Amino acid sequence: MNTLSADSQFHRQLILVNGLLPAALLVFDGWRGSLGANPVEFVTRTTGVVALFFLLLALAVTPLRQLYGWTWLLKQRRLLGLYAFFYALAHLWTYILGDRGGQLSTIAADIARRPFITLGMLSFACMVPLALTSSQAMIKQLGPKRWRQLHRLTYVVAIGGVIHYAMIVKSDLTYPALFAMVLTLLLGYRLRQVWQRG
Ligand code: HEM
Repeated sequence: MNTLSADSQFHRQLILVNGLLPAALLVFDGWRGSLGANPVEFVTRTTGVVALFFLLLALAVTPLRQLYGWTWLLKQRRLLGLYAFFYALAHLWTYILGDRGGQLSTIAADIARRPFITLGMLSFACMVPLALTSSQAMIKQLGPKRWRQLHRLTYVVAIGGVIHYAMIVKSDLTYPALFAMVLTLLLGYRLRQVWQRG
């Protein structure tokens, strides 16, 4: 095994362990009964924020690689994206089972009644093709150009996720504003590249 692959494996394990930490802490807190007065809300909110965090990390890979030469990150982008999907799925699952009691009729009514839920569902729906086409085999099957075009959907999901977050917060917009700021920087970087390439 050469040094590079040993390094890659180390980075992978680092991200694997850190990515599982929020889930492990939620399970541990649930087990000791310390998820607060409203555990469903706590889990929904935590998984939502963690999903958005991983999404932005995955989007930051290209700029960080190009600006600082962090090429090692590129090999870990898929894992970051899959963690975003994993936490978004946990978020959706907590909403379906915890918030809505698993009743499809109330979920449909909620999607129609609350715009932030509609937006959350749409953003999640856009994540599904991204997760399904994340493997090397799918990149080969679609071809790198089409795969890259499809994966620009990640920006759509992130924009949807940030707006969804901002719509929920009633008074203090600090955290959604922070996420929005980072996303604007990432989008700005990408748009500048597109513009420079003509
Ligand atoms: C799958 C469809 C989705 C549903 C049904 C949904 C539903 C919810 C609900 C019920 C809340 C809590 C609202 C409250 O406590 O008042 C919430 C919060 C949140 N969701 Fe979603 N969501 C969805 C998708 C997403 C996606 C795709 C993201 C990000 C990628 C996301 C990020 C967030 C964030 C950041 C919060 C706020 C956390 C906080 O208040 O600290 N959600 N969502």
